[in-house]
Amino acid sequence: MPLPKAELHLHIEGTLEPETAFALAARNGVRLPYADAEQLRSAYAFEDLQSFLNLYYELTAVLRTEQDFEDLANAYLARAAAQGVRHAEIFFDPQAHLSRGVDMGTVVEGLWRALGRSERNHGVSTQLIMCFLRDEPVERALETLDAAKPHLDRIVGVGLDSAEAGNPPAAFREVYEAAAALGLRRVAHAGEEGPPQYITEALDVLGVERIDHGLRCLEDPALVERLVRERVPLTVCPLSNVRLRAVDTLADHPLPAMLEAGLLCTVNSDDPAYFGGYAGDNYHAVRDALGLTEEQMRELARNSFLASFLEHDEERRAR
Ligand code: ADE
Ligand code: ZN
Repeated sequence: MPLPKAELHLHIEGTLEPETAFALAARNGVRLPYADAEQLRSAYAFEDLQSFLNLYYELTAVLRTEQDFEDLANAYLARAAAQGVRHAEIFFDPQAHLSRGVDMGTVVEGLWRALGRSERNHGVSTQLIMCFLRDEPVERALETLDAAKPHLDRIVGVGLDSAEAGNPPAAFREVYEAAAALGLRRVAHAGEEGPPQYITEALDVLGVERIDHGLRCLEDPALVERLVRERVPLTVCPLSNVRLRAVDTLADHPLPAMLEAGLLCTVNSDDPAYFGGYAGDNYHAVRDALGLTEEQMRELARNSFLASFLEHDEERRAR
């Protein structure tokens, strides 16, 4: 029996397996510049975040209809359930679709056809988090929030992703304020490739409740102390960090030091089709490469529920 866990950092577009990309391309008459799934998989070798994002955005071309988004989400939920995921807070990138002429309703309602039935079909509860692309102007993010207004009953929060270096969180203050006024929860990627100050900005300017990645907090001891004191969850993605070269090898991953420091770390898969593993694979990989104890593995799983948006805020504050 896999350890029951919540997945809090998962981009649904990052679950597009090469075989599914080809199946959807055929269904929609989209030509992919790869001979077959095997050749596409061999392109999944990245230098850094940007080289990954180039392929990730290129492949969104195969996602066109509600059925495509429903099928993508169902495939993820089945895999996640098999690896012990009981609750998933799922990111999606509307701007990657709106810019191709796929409207917000197609994306959200398509995903919802899978998510709305997920507890019954997969035993996984779900929440949907809409991300803004930080390498596009804040005006696009404001338009995106506007386009989401008819669908807010499906969306629990907002996030910030895409190319981090040189794109500080503070530029998105206005859209985060608007999201907060609509009652949306707030998270942001920070400290993946960007400096520790971006983590501080995400907390202080955007008012986020969780930091996605957050690895580079370790460069600033005062920030680590703050994150520990305020019990700010970090959604760490170990296999992603190796594939995008934030760390050299899994054996070098700072997760043990982060746990030792008292940080509220969780383990997640980020873009599992691209980075070599789903949530359970990430748990196994860190256990094997870093020699984590069974107690540390249980701590990570417990943290995942504590850091989730499930109803337990009192419990987290009381710890
Ligand atoms: N979009 C999808 N995966 C991402 C990641 N790991 N960092 C930033 N943006 C992303
Ligand atoms: Zn991510």
